[in-house]
Amino acid sequence: MPDKLWLGRFAAPTDKLVEDFTSSLDFDRRLYRQDIAGSQAHARMLAKQGILNPEEAAAIVQGLEEIRQEIEADEFIFDSSLEDIHMAIEARLIEKIGDTGRKLHTARSRNDQVALDVRLFLVAEVEGLIQDLTELRRAGARLARRHLNVIMPGYTHLQRAQPVLLAHHLLAYDEMWRRDQARLADSLPRLMVSPLGAAALAGTTFPIDPEFTAAQLGFPTVFRNSLDAVSDRDFILEFLAHAALIMVHLSRLSEELILWSTSEFAFVELPDAYATGSSIMPQKKNPDVPELIRGKCGRVTGHLMSLLMTVKGLPLAYNRDLQEDKEPLFDTVDTVRASVKLMAGLLGALTIRPARLTAAVHGGYLSATDMADYLVRKSVPFRTAHEQVGRTVRYAEFQGKELWELSLPEIQRFAPQAGPDLYDWLRPENVVARRTSPGGTAPTRVAEALRLVEQELILTEED
Ligand code: ARG
Repeated sequence: MPDKLWLGRFAAPTDKLVEDFTSSLDFDRRLYRQDIAGSQAHARMLAKQGILNPEEAAAIVQGLEEIRQEIEADEFIFDSSLEDIHMAIEARLIEKIGDTGRKLHTARSRNDQVALDVRLFLVAEVEGLIQDLTELRRAGARLARRHLNVIMPGYTHLQRAQPVLLAHHLLAYDEMWRRDQARLADSLPRLMVSPLGAAALAGTTFPIDPEFTAAQLGFPTVFRNSLDAVSDRDFILEFLAHAALIMVHLSRLSEELILWSTSEFAFVELPDAYATGSSIMPQKKNPDVPELIRGKCGRVTGHLMSLLMTVKGLPLAYNRDLQEDKEPLFDTVDTVRASVKLMAGLLGALTIRPARLTAAVHGGYLSATDMADYLVRKSVPFRTAHEQVGRTVRYAEFQGKELWELSLPEIQRFAPQAGPDLYDWLRPENVVARRTSPGGTAPTRVAEALRLVEQELILTEED
């Protein structure tokens, strides 16, 4: 077992319980690639600055390359007495190349090293998540395209309100996902700031070139204040906040899919591959995937809260508390990316039941607003029209009829200005078609909106 790398000051060994309690190796081993890339960039910078000689840097870079292969081949021994991935790799490097390996950590600290590793990790995940969201948006846009003219009830307070196009409803989610993507993209320049060179907290006495290290890693900028560089976890908090919001959006859609797949709504049928059966009730097909996405929203939101609390009250600069950033981050990345992918798959295979949607539009007086608008066009003041329609609806409800099932004389008892053209006016297709105001649900507007989204996602109508 290799020795700990900071033994010099210590006379007694670490308590085993303490070792277990403080070790992060079980989870931060996930950062091995970033750690190695960062160390290689650091070694090259040290050589360029004449702090190491070129042979030493080459040996370090090569040794680290071999360690990467060992880890990938599952040959690397992760020894938790070595605390974390940084120590584990450095100890192995020293084991492999001897004293030259002991030079790698010149002008560096684990404090700037770990901050760099997490940033490198997160950049790749954020880029991947932006792509996942593109796939999700594509699935949503395809579904909207396939059912472009299907009308469904639009709801407020979960009460049937006015008819809308299903495509319009789906495109509302596209707006959320588009903003989610924009937020993630906006965070990238703040993520791609290299903290390497801050060392433990105060900078270093060596003539380092942080810009050179950063450039090798594809980071356009470097830190401006060494204390901030090692203690800043805003970039993780920001990501967790964006992730929580993505989960909230997915959770809202999940809730709708769960409702819509009940026999009460029966607007959609979930694909078999995305549902499960009951162990006791043979008739059941449970919406487990949307339920779990909805459920996992709580978990991701919790991770955001957990790290906010961890960072709150921390004095500058690095504190070991910050090691608690990784598990919430890793779990969030895994959860949100899986949820986005699953929702994309689910939408791709979802069966819409247009007949049920149409039937729902024909019950519940969804055209009442339009009847009032109709009367206003016949010079009835809006408040009066509202009241007249209200009375008509009450009467119709009492009769167990829809508005268009009432005879004209019946209607005229409440709304004297109503004429025979009212019946056509109240048809849901016409109700929807009239909503041509910008961003409205008229088929012309929705087709326009969908085309824009498709262009953005580089989708053709056939996709
Ligand atoms: N495992 C530590 C973390 O994740 C790495 C930095 C440790 N630095 C230190 N001075 N103990 O935060």
